[in-house]
Amino acid sequence: MSTITANVEQANAYRSLKDKVILITGASTGIGRAIAIETARQGANVVVNYIGKADAAQEVVREIENDHGTALAIEADVSKSDQVQHMISQAVSHLGRVDVLVNNAGIEKESPFLDKPESEFDAVIGVNLKGPFLCTQAAARDMAKRKKGTIINISSVHEDLPFPGYSAYCAAKGGLRMLCRDLALELAPHGINIVNVAPGAIDTPINKRTLSNPEKKLALKREIPLGRVGEPQEVAKLVCYLASDDAAYITGTTVVIDGGLMHQTGSL
Ligand code: BGC
Repeated sequence: MSTITANVEQANAYRSLKDKVILITGASTGIGRAIAIETARQGANVVVNYIGKADAAQEVVREIENDHGTALAIEADVSKSDQVQHMISQAVSHLGRVDVLVNNAGIEKESPFLDKPESEFDAVIGVNLKGPFLCTQAAARDMAKRKKGTIINISSVHEDLPFPGYSAYCAAKGGLRMLCRDLALELAPHGINIVNVAPGAIDTPINKRTLSNPEKKLALKREIPLGRVGEPQEVAKLVCYLASDDAAYITGTTVVIDGGLMHQTGSL
């Protein structure tokens, strides 16, 4: 065996997600994009779910392919059961199965509770809570046949922490907290584990309005004990670990990644 072949084999052996099929919802931007790229780097075959932004999704696919990875973009609105069903069947027919589902797609809308339109509540709950319900059910039905699978929900510190102006978002993330705990028990007999990741403030488009305003950015950083906003790659690396077989004994809990934000007294 040549030295180069040996080195390639050695590098592959260290890829913690080698040959796993991972489907990430909302993967054309932000944390989802970083998760798609990092998991592919760890050897996973990746499904990049998106809605609307086909160019951005194709760019993620291209970036993965340029790095010798395998990726496939599939459009689906996660709040619509027929589209979710179709996405999972397409993933299974193209890549064989879904080993890991990352429920990442999320939206956030700010308005005072007394004025919050019903349509805003429905949209936020639809993507952030009903989406994970539908995607998990569709993926877990397939995983249960193989008695193996992992579900990772990208939740938020606001599954616990109040966030004035964001009542629908808090309700969705609080719901996701209990969905994780309930499903850990319901899915354990089927060999499926489920875990929430709760990021604090991360430098992504969802936070653009705050981060592009110097005063708001400074106020936010003051709330964070580590004194900085997190990077999407930091969340993605945690997800790589949770998606790997090394994390197979973790289920029904939330892993917080927030620079200490949740423990700040009087935060937000
Ligand atoms: C929200 C961000 C917010 C962060 C910390 C996240 O869930 O998406 O808008 O900055 O929590 O409050």
